[in-house]
Amino acid sequence: MIRPILKFGAPELETESTPITRFDQEIKTLAEDMLETMYSAPGIGLAAPQVGVNFRLLVIDITGGEEKGHQIIFTNPEITEQEGTQEAEEGCLSIPGFIAVVERPSKIHVVGQDLEGNPQELDAEGLLARVVCHEIDHLDGILYLDRASFLKRDLIKRKIKKLIRAGEW
Ligand code: NI
Repeated sequence: MIRPILKFGAPELETESTPITRFDQEIKTLAEDMLETMYSAPGIGLAAPQVGVNFRLLVIDITGGEEKGHQIIFTNPEITEQEGTQEAEEGCLSIPGFIAVVERPSKIHVVGQDLEGNPQELDAEGLLARVVCHEIDHLDGILYLDRASFLKRDLIKRKIKKLIRAGEW
């Protein structure tokens, strides 16, 4: 089931999410819904707070479903190692219509669990590392805007305020 994606301004997006301790059907359904929601958006990553659920769950597919075998589902992900930096423009399904340059690590090692609660780890670099960092930030209530330059952040926030006033957000 496709769930509505919350937009900038929703309190869930600025809330630190809770670790998952019960790997029940509710979590599996949520992950399925998040994948469907991400693919239909379309997007390449989605975190549970973006659909209004403050649990530490994320889904990623950097091919947007174009190629098989790229689907990633992580519960309770944590970056345990990182290396180098990369800069590129980033967007977010919760901040549609805007992009900004964000610095991220170029390589990361992530540990966490799958939907059954089994340990899971991942080495990522390039775009995948960027997306994983972006989605883990969501679980901590951090948006990419918080990591953009002050000027860019200010500009985007002012434009969003105007859209909100116009009833277009
Ligand atoms: Ni996002």
